[in-house]
Amino acid sequence: MPERFYVTTPIYYPNDRPHLGTAYTTVTADALARWHRLCGEEVKFLTGTDEHGLKIARRAAEQQMTPEAWTDETAEWFREAWRVLLVTNDDFIRTTEPRHTLAVQRFTQAIYDNGHIYKGEYSGWYCVSCEAYYNEPELVGDHHCPVHLRPVEWLVEENYFFRLSAFADRLLEWYDAHPGVVVPDSKRNEAVSFIRRGLEDISISRTSIDWGIPVPWDPEHVVYVWYDALVNYATAAGYGQDEEGFARWWPSVHHLVGKDILRFHCVWWPAMCMAAGIEPPHQLVVHGFLLVGGEKMSKSRLNQIDPVELAADLGVDALRYHLLREVVLGSDGDFSYEALVARYNADLANNLGNLAQRVATVVGSKCGGIGPAPRAATASNHLATVAAQVVDEARAAWARFAPHDALGATWRLVHETNAALESAEPWKMAPGPEVDAVLGDALEALRIVVVLASPAVPVAAAEIWRRLGLTGRPDAPGRAALPGGDLAWGGYPGGVPVTKGEPIFPRRAHEAAPAEAARSR
Ligand code: ME8
Ligand code: MG
Repeated sequence: MPERFYVTTPIYYPNDRPHLGTAYTTVTADALARWHRLCGEEVKFLTGTDEHGLKIARRAAEQQMTPEAWTDETAEWFREAWRVLLVTNDDFIRTTEPRHTLAVQRFTQAIYDNGHIYKGEYSGWYCVSCEAYYNEPELVGDHHCPVHLRPVEWLVEENYFFRLSAFADRLLEWYDAHPGVVVPDSKRNEAVSFIRRGLEDISISRTSIDWGIPVPWDPEHVVYVWYDALVNYATAAGYGQDEEGFARWWPSVHHLVGKDILRFHCVWWPAMCMAAGIEPPHQLVVHGFLLVGGEKMSKSRLNQIDPVELAADLGVDALRYHLLREVVLGSDGDFSYEALVARYNADLANNLGNLAQRVATVVGSKCGGIGPAPRAATASNHLATVAAQVVDEARAAWARFAPHDALGATWRLVHETNAALESAEPWKMAPGPEVDAVLGDALEALRIVVVLASPAVPVAAAEIWRRLGLTGRPDAPGRAALPGGDLAWGGYPGGVPVTKGEPIFPRRAHEAAPAEAARSR
């Protein structure tokens, strides 16, 4: 039976266009989904939009629109951006869909029936951008939100509360029993120390607004937007509606989130699952922030960059590759247009692009355009040895959610193949078995590179694959499966036509970003 891999992104607030920060999470989740499909696993990849709450209601009002009409329009921005970035999500959830209303009501009712919800009054400092309350000591400056650096508001209302405080021990036991449940370790430690400091109950309903899902036993209240949003992951797996689907997908769920929402995902959500009587999430992968000039890129700080415009400028592959290769998953990473162009020129134009071009040229001039077969993977076949190491390293890196290392390993094979050609100089040799052997090995190494690189650069991977004379697609499900895949040395058949074409990654001049091209509206 194939393994399953259910991967989710946060559901984004559709109050503005997607920016590079949300694209970073989504492209990373996409690369993981693509890798797991390559491994022959059954994959479910979910993204979507978080459409209830005060923040969306106010934004819609500013546009003189109903929240329904506003989110109908803006959810499309996200679908469209992910389509442009070749994101292969299997489902897109909007929290305003009937399936989600039903799931939230059933989930909340289950927690209520299990005795973990009570009624009380709440007052506190509220950040509308976070849709969250803060304690006085957490605020910065003169009553400003620590995340958004915007003024918070004093809110008083009657709420239902979730008894989060009662779950501290169970959460700590769960963390003890599942050491790898949060990746990386530094983020796990953050969650654990937050729990150790003691947990307060959380208010989970609002009466001050009506843009939300009614509390099933008291419809004067709507479910608080975070409580509503977290349930989306269960909804899409079939919670409360498709028990078979839920049993199938839930045990393999992996949430990819930014560190801004660590508490919600690593503390609240597992406790909510326990309270509702379902398994807490299988794994949580927490990444850092993309920074611009040292500051978090965000909608509310207006320093966001439009990923769709960047993709139009340098190509979807270039943007995807840069996001995956530049940032170590879990750490913050600075984004700059200059670094994007520099990496494009170095890794894509000069290395991968150049390798594909030169192999095709020499096969054309020395082998009559027919790709020769590689040599056997003997101990003296250096490229075959490197390829085997690289495949293992890349496999291990994808498995530990380190696309940066997986691509680093893959590009080592690109370098080594270019170096092997430079040392053998087949372009100076007379046609014959020696040239065939050198090029056969280079073609085979390139074939393996293309499969390994396909989660990052799907367009170039498919094009190089075609030029190598191979049939099917480099990202066919199961190509990297163990056993049974075809990442072992020797898969290039030989005797197939190799074609030349335009450079796949034409070199770029190092120019400054055209301010209007890279900044979003
Ligand atoms: O928080 N760097 O939605 P949101 C890296 N609706 N990632 C970034 C980023 C940056 N500068 N800026 C945003 C919400 N992100 C809730 C989520 S989930 C049940 C509900 C990414 O639109 C990152 O993944 O504010 C972050 O966690 C997410 O966008 C926040 O998106
Ligand atoms: Mg946010």
